[in-house]
Amino acid sequence: MMKDNRKFSVVIAGGGSTFTPGFVLNLLKNQDRFPLRKIKFYDNDAERQKKIGDAVSIIMNERAPEIEFEYTTDPKEAFTDVDFVMGSIRVGKYHMRSLDEKIPLRYGVNGQETTGPGGMAYGLRSIPAIIQIIDWMEEYSPNAWMINYSNTIAIVAEACRRLRPHSKVINICDMPIDIMTRMAQICGLKDYHDLDFNYYGLNHFGWWKGVWDKKTGKDLMPELKKYVSKNGYWVGGDFDKNTEASWKETFKKAADCYALEPNTLPNTYMQYYYYPQYEVKNADPNRTRTDEIREYRQKIVFGECERIVKEGTAENNMWDRNETHSEYIVDICHAIAYNTGEKFLANIPNNGAISNMDPDSIVEVPCLFTSHGVEPISTGEAGIFQRGLMMEQQTCEKLVVDAYEQHSYEKMWEAFALNKTVPDALVAKKILDDMIPENKPYWPILK
Ligand code: NAD
Ligand code: G6P
Ligand code: MN
Repeated sequence: MMKDNRKFSVVIAGGGSTFTPGFVLNLLKNQDRFPLRKIKFYDNDAERQKKIGDAVSIIMNERAPEIEFEYTTDPKEAFTDVDFVMGSIRVGKYHMRSLDEKIPLRYGVNGQETTGPGGMAYGLRSIPAIIQIIDWMEEYSPNAWMINYSNTIAIVAEACRRLRPHSKVINICDMPIDIMTRMAQICGLKDYHDLDFNYYGLNHFGWWKGVWDKKTGKDLMPELKKYVSKNGYWVGGDFDKNTEASWKETFKKAADCYALEPNTLPNTYMQYYYYPQYEVKNADPNRTRTDEIREYRQKIVFGECERIVKEGTAENNMWDRNETHSEYIVDICHAIAYNTGEKFLANIPNNGAISNMDPDSIVEVPCLFTSHGVEPISTGEAGIFQRGLMMEQQTCEKLVVDAYEQHSYEKMWEAFALNKTVPDALVAKKILDDMIPENKPYWPILK
């Protein structure tokens, strides 16, 4: 493709995120197709961001001294003169994630970052912070796009639909592309770029209707179904040498999810809705995923940053390898910047993309990515089983945004009570009542 001579400016919101160095390294890797003039970090935790920022300064000096780099906690500085905002914030950080996971487990309910009561609690925390970032972006860089990963995406996207319907924000998820990279490996291909697909659902709640070899058009569903029925999406070997124990279980569990509805291939997150009792039985209420991250990803990322700063060089750093999470967001910025019309998934108002869901449901469906935004592709009809599940789940997501808008205790209680992971309204109430004081700095006062 013939390119013009534009160079872009990107700010990563959540500069202190464990994923930030990966974003930077991937941006640098893609300079031939998505050239940059500036990279900035923005975070509201100066100390956490500095640790990443100081290591990235060394990386930038070594590898791309011509690209300006700075990190800041000042919104005006951060959001002025940017073309893309990459959203990667975690409101309440791991401290609050840990409580999202552990409070429901007190009452025998699954404790998970983005699903069930924990996911709804997290979504409610994220709404005001994301809206604030959108507003700063629009004030200081009115032409910029925000590509947002910050969870709980389904709830954030519903809040964007209601509160900032005309804003240039696209809410995305890496789970389907992570799974598609596994699918590619299973079929002897390299990664998600090698597959064409038809997928529909909500965020962390969806199904593949079809998967094809992008080059040859070969239908890969029969081969994949056979594999997934036995192994889930677990690939093993060298491919999975860095995969943590809980993720291994998740990829394997997809076999049981597939068994329930074998016409499609499931997103791994269906495990929490199909088999909540298994999840709770398997969980250790004192050691949840957050504890594993503190001992693994967070330790490794910040340890690597310290090492780079100490040695004064970023040679052979841990981010010099392919990683779907950061590759995907760079792919998306590139598609928007150059109006490529490539097909990726996004979380957007349905408007007919799934023919038997409401127009105002936030759904995760394939879209064409252009310089004027995303154009959803019609995915056809949802199966009766899927539609039933989605109606319940998306109502929970809408009730959380109602709770935010109306400062309503009742709406939040109803959201918890309706959720498939919660057995009973009294249990829902107990979880909510334990969460309210912990979320005081972040939630509206629920009356
Ligand atoms: P992290 O806790 O390591 O980093 C998040 C950073 O956000 C922290 O440095 C924190 O100080 C900062 N932050 C919190 N509130 C902020 C605010 N209001 N303004 C600016 N900065 C703020 O988190 P992580 O594990 O690296 O994850 C980052 C985010 O990415 C989370 O929301 C996570 O759920 C999300 N995520 C999404 C996907 C997806 O598929 N959409 C995939 C992976 C991670
Ligand atoms: C996947 C999902 C994200 C989620 C993450 C949690 O990547 O798509 O939305 O935040 O998993 O992973 P973690 O390693 O933080 O438990
Ligand atoms: Mn996700």
